[in-house]
Amino acid sequence: MILGISGSPRKDEISGVYKLVKIVLENTGCAYELVSLRNKNIAGCVACLKCVEDNVCKVKDDFQELRESILDADAYVIGSPNYYSGINVLTHAFLERWFQFRHREGDLLWGKIGVAVGVGGTSGKYPADEIERFFNYNFIETVAKVEGQGAASCYYCGYGDSCKVGIPYFLYGENADVSEENVPDVTRQQDVVKSAAEAGRELGRLVREGYDRSEVTGRMQQRMMEMLKGS
Ligand SMILES: Cc1cc2nc3c(=O)[nH]c(=O)nc-3n(C[C@H](O)[C@H](O)[C@H](O)COP(=O)(O)O)c2cc1C
Repeated sequence: MILGISGSPRKDEISGVYKLVKIVLENTGCAYELVSLRNKNIAGCVACLKCVEDNVCKVKDDFQELRESILDADAYVIGSPNYYSGINVLTHAFLERWFQFRHREGDLLWGKIGVAVGVGGTSGKYPADEIERFFNYNFIETVAKVEGQGAASCYYCGYGDSCKVGIPYFLYGENADVSEENVPDVTRQQDVVKSAAEAGRELGRLVREGYDRSEVTGRMQQRMMEMLKGS
């Protein structure tokens, strides 16, 4: 099973993250579960260390219902919207809680694989890169990153044509036009859909054909050592 997570708080129908994560999953050819974090109550890690002995977080909230799926999954497709050039707090809190899986020989997730999906009003690069970093900390190898342009709230707020701090103005200046036909939609961005489909196919191939988790773990351990030495 491949677990897909959409970290957008928006309704699925208008969330670029949800749509893009779904395209990746559909192209894997594997069984998948797609969970939206919308309306979920998930706090960040509180560093209580109560998970150290048994790798089980003791904070009681909606993360608990997702824990088994995270452990069962062979691979992950995780997507976040770009908020202030990073991932949003919902996705961040969700991923912080993966701390519980990491302690000592807690190799519960080590050597698994994933796809990182980012969607922003300008670009999805920042969230995709940040999700990759979270994957690294869990020794999960990023098979592909998918980045799309979603509909900034400025297209719906009523002032998008003229607002001087809105994304349409940043991108198009006085020519900003927030009419319906100009609202960015990841499903109409052919290169984005293509990269999502390719990412899904590659992830599915690796899951079906199998891969050596200990080899991936070794590579990721090395990568983390290099990353943290240089920081
Ligand atoms: C609080 C907030 C901050 C945002 N910051 C950025 C940003 O820094 N850069 C960007 O490209 N888009 C930014 N956006 C726009 C979202 O990334 C964009 O609407 C995207 O489509 C959200 O994904 P979703 O459609 O799946 O919800 C921001 C949106 C919100 C609500």
